[in-house]
Amino acid sequence: MFCLNKRNIRVAISPTCNLNCVYCDHSKNRKPERPGAMEDFRHKSLAQGVISTDMLLKIIKVLYLAGFEGITLTGGEPFLNPEWDLIVNKAKEIGIPRVNLTTNGMLLNSYLKKKKHLPKGLTLLTISLDTTDPVRFKTITRGGDLTTVMKGLRAAKKDKPELRIKANKVLMKTDMRFLLDYIKFCEKSGVIDDINLLNLILKEPKDEKQKRFFEKEFISASEVVNFFSTHTKYNFAMDSKYEYQTKLSSGLRIIIKDTDLTMRASQCNKCPIYCQEGFYTVRVATDGTLTRCIDYKMELPFIDSLLELNQESLVSKVNKMVQVFQEVKLERTLKSFFDKYNIESR
Ligand SMILES: C[S@@+](CC[C@H](N)C(=O)[O-])C[C@H]1O[C@@H](n2cnc3c(N)ncnc32)[C@H](O)[C@@H]1O
Repeated sequence: MFCLNKRNIRVAISPTCNLNCVYCDHSKNRKPERPGAMEDFRHKSLAQGVISTDMLLKIIKVLYLAGFEGITLTGGEPFLNPEWDLIVNKAKEIGIPRVNLTTNGMLLNSYLKKKKHLPKGLTLLTISLDTTDPVRFKTITRGGDLTTVMKGLRAAKKDKPELRIKANKVLMKTDMRFLLDYIKFCEKSGVIDDINLLNLILKEPKDEKQKRFFEKEFISASEVVNFFSTHTKYNFAMDSKYEYQTKLSSGLRIIIKDTDLTMRASQCNKCPIYCQEGFYTVRVATDGTLTRCIDYKMELPFIDSLLELNQESLVSKVNKMVQVFQEVKLERTLKSFFDKYNIESR
């Protein structure tokens, strides 16, 4: 028996994105004809539309009452939902203490120019920032503009100086040589409070080329900690959220998320994708589908929130789902993922 110490909802509020990052999964292998972008784990095709903000807020309220304390709005690109700011404020009004928005930041500056202020309920802004080199930024995002993103971050910090801004960076071995420059850039920027170093999401390799890609690029959290101990004086400590953390003298916090320590169970061994959260995060898709994990093959039990709301049974379904969290037997599964696909992890 374990105690789930971090209950997060990850809500896709837009099924589409305005960028096309090289590592991003466009869900081609998932079953429905036209699924949403990356984190939109819909069970219905896009042609069947998205749920209304009203319905979404009802779902969020049920999850909050079931004990979820944090919400991340993601997508696709959340700024493509014209009501993203309303959702932020309403989630806070419902009582959720942590309200995070994960964005590529391309529309942040123009939003602030038009609306002047960020929504009051926002407690964390996560920006996807894989590189601080403008040319590489354009290449990785296939069209993104670093200057526009940084302008947006400066405007956000000016509007709400107390708002934490976290930069998400996907770790790749060949990119490690730029990591210390990346950290320096973030320190100097004056707008970034945290850097979140993320493991590359692994997928069942389709061919030798993909297998070699993971062998070449995947780098584990402990290797990254070793890298820092060789090249810097940073001291990383592990916290209760299963992350390595350190705070530099400038105040910048660096987090290394260890995917091998996030909650996983035997069912994760059957999954063809090694995601970042395991069981940590309940997902709400833009059609109202509620899943305990990314359920890449769409084989696990899921909740059709709209149906359950109409039948007034969503509360009991969500409570049953939470019960599963308390009963699951935890396993570390990264090694078995590598073994299964014969991937050399070093
Ligand atoms: C899918 S994006 C969606 C939200 C928004 N469009 C954005 O770019 O931030 C959310 C996060 O997923 C991360 N991500 C996407 N593909 C990944 C992969 N293959 N491995 C690790 N992280 C990934 C990105 O770094 C990003 O911070």
